[in-house]
Amino acid sequence: MKIIVLGSAAGGGFPQWNCNCRNCAGVRKGTVRATPRTQSSIAVSSNGDDWVLINASPDILAQIRATPALQPARARRDSGIAAVMLLDAQIDHVTGLLMLREGKRIPLYCTASVWSDLTTALPLAPVLSHYCGVAWHELALPPLQVPGIEHIRFTAIALSSKAPPYSPHRQHPQTGDNIGLLIEDTVSGKALFYAPGLGALTGPVEAAMRAADCLLVDGTFWHADEMIEQELSSKRAEDMGHLPQTGAQGMVAVLDAIGARRKVLIHINNTNPILDEDSQQRATLTKHGIEVAFDGMEITL
Ligand code: MLT
Ligand code: MN
Ligand code: ZN
Repeated sequence: MKIIVLGSAAGGGFPQWNCNCRNCAGVRKGTVRATPRTQSSIAVSSNGDDWVLINASPDILAQIRATPALQPARARRDSGIAAVMLLDAQIDHVTGLLMLREGKRIPLYCTASVWSDLTTALPLAPVLSHYCGVAWHELALPPLQVPGIEHIRFTAIALSSKAPPYSPHRQHPQTGDNIGLLIEDTVSGKALFYAPGLGALTGPVEAAMRAADCLLVDGTFWHADEMIEQELSSKRAEDMGHLPQTGAQGMVAVLDAIGARRKVLIHINNTNPILDEDSQQRATLTKHGIEVAFDGMEITL
């Protein structure tokens, strides 16, 4: 199974268009050693030709331009993207669907809760019905396979995180607002656990993490109050459904407890000091054997 990280930043990307924080200003000026990143999305394939796009970021067109495997290769109009899977209905994970409107009908896999947001509060599906259209397949708890993608099994794991600010579920959470995915190669027996928005470690999440050979998980914030400290927002990490890296129950402690396997952080917010490759926080991650995803990163399992 091949995995390509198309985008590794949180909502807003890095640098964020209107942000002058240390990281954003520093990467623009070249005074901070860091790499720009687009908003998070990955692609998964077994044969290298047909890919499942997992989350459709608003940066999808730039991501396709940077990724030959997704480009038209077999016909006058063609795409390496065979289907799209959504893990939540956040703007940074779904609005790229609009950019795929010139193509064929999109096989779209998401939970009933995400589908309800995309047909009401953020009606991308009704809008797209006037262009390519989407064919919804419910992503529920039983493992599923995607037609055309052989030997890969996808299992949704309900997460404790947050529905988007625009969603009626924001204050009334529903199971399925946010999921992680256990993605298994049924031939090699290897598995990836992917959860770019993970608010808390629950029993099922821990079990999925232990079953995986590679963890690609929420790296949004270093500190719970990072945005408040930098006077950029009044929201703490938990208000946004993200588990910060630091703290007794933080992501570094969680990954340490899960034990030896490949551990990679993704969905990094532009305020997070780990983006600075010379930072002490980045050195701490390295000491714990934790990698930071970058756009174009490839993982083979
Ligand atoms: C989040 O994950 O909380 C989002 O990136 C926020 C956003 O899209 O503005
Ligand atoms: Mn996000
Ligand atoms: Zn910034």
